[in-house]
Amino acid sequence: MSKDALKKAAGDKAAEYVKDGMVVGLGTGSTAFHVVNAIGKRIKEEGLQIQAIPTSIATRDQAEGLGIPLLTIDEVTHVDLAIDGVDEIDPNFFAIKGGGGALYREKVIASMAKEVIWIMDDSKPVEKIGAFPLPVEVAQYGYVQLQRKLEAMGCKPVLRVKDDGSTFVTDNGNYILDLHLGAGFDAIGLQDKLAGMVGVLEHGLFLNMCDRIIVGRDESTAEVIENATKGVSK
Ligand code: A5P
Repeated sequence: MSKDALKKAAGDKAAEYVKDGMVVGLGTGSTAFHVVNAIGKRIKEEGLQIQAIPTSIATRDQAEGLGIPLLTIDEVTHVDLAIDGVDEIDPNFFAIKGGGGALYREKVIASMAKEVIWIMDDSKPVEKIGAFPLPVEVAQYGYVQLQRKLEAMGCKPVLRVKDDGSTFVTDNGNYILDLHLGAGFDAIGLQDKLAGMVGVLEHGLFLNMCDRIIVGRDESTAEVIENATKGVSK
């Protein structure tokens, strides 16, 4: 079973939660790609009436191509439902996101949303997060100073580069430092520290921000797991 088939199963299931009249946050990445397609299909085939707010330029372009009516971030007054992927998530619904570099816009939309659904293949749920490097979006100006500080904190920051060796630049014009923390780091403690660091725009720790997760189990089965403790820090 390919991972992509599991991502599609999760994306298709999540699209069922979209209802007429909703403002929907559209996530970014290879899993979110499938839910955006599925929503586009429902608009075409069922006449589903929604407006959407994309979390990246890539998702905006995909949604535009599918004829999904879009709002800009300044036009949005509320978000009913946000659907997005994750890189890792633990049993407390503590997640790392931002593998695709869209973490800032994803967090803006998720924090506005009344309801949040994260979709994934079955490799994303883990016992402890941290094996996946934690992305931190930082201003270009002074990023080396931040890199030194994070190095001194033992966070092993690595400036993200593209396959061609050039520095990765986010949709917001910033750099990404990926922190190689290792599974089992203190997520709440690190979140507090990062929040106080000058030059950090946002980080990829999304701690207990979702209402449910949907995990692709095979090409036609996706398991829905409800989170009764959203917002509670453990
Ligand atoms: C984008 O910046 C990310 O937060 C993605 O949502 C996350 O990396 C999951 O991506 P995939 O669905 O491509 O694995």
